Amino acid sequence: MQIIFFIIISYIVGSIPTALIIGLKFFNKDIRNYGSKNLGGTNAGRVLGKTVGIVVSAIDVAKVFVPAYIAKRYIGINGAAIAGFFGMIGHCYPLFAQFKGGKAVSSFFGIVLAINLTIAAILATLWFILRYITNYVSVASMISGFVASFMFLFTYGFSIPFYVLFMSAIFVVYRHKSNIERLIKGTENKFRNK
Ligand code: G3P
Repeated sequence: MQIIFFIIISYIVGSIPTALIIGLKFFNKDIRNYGSKNLGGTNAGRVLGKTVGIVVSAIDVAKVFVPAYIAKRYIGINGAAIAGFFGMIGHCYPLFAQFKGGKAVSSFFGIVLAINLTIAAILATLWFILRYITNYVSVASMISGFVASFMFLFTYGFSIPFYVLFMSAIFVVYRHKSNIERLIKGTENKFRNK
């Protein structure tokens, strides 16, 4: 029954709309009306500046990581994966922002970080490399999610953490529908403009 408690707490904490709160409170800007209109670190960086983007991303990772990590301490990695998944659902469908949230990238990283530090470090490195090579945050995010889930397969076999991560990688792609449309049209926002 502990897992039910963690699912609820993770969903509620994940629901805190970091980008919305910081934008409104410190810049009087609702970032849902600017840039890609997404409530995430990338769009916060685009609209409010690089430092704000980093702060929003860090908090978005932490709000999924912390409940998942506590779940790991009490009920192991399966519990961490499930709690993290519901934190991610909270981030994407937030209770406190009309159920319209982000694209699951920071949350995905928060789940991985709670379960396996080495895979998290590889994932972060890969994401930065892919972002540099492609110049698209969305492409880096979608590809590295699948790579991380396969690293989970090699590490934990066909297990709950692998299934959760694989489902989450598919979910990340689903949340990037509008980015995929822009990529096809050639209008996706580039990370560096020059
Ligand atoms: O973190 C989400 C990222 O992959 C894309 O964000 O604002 O460019 O749609 P955005």
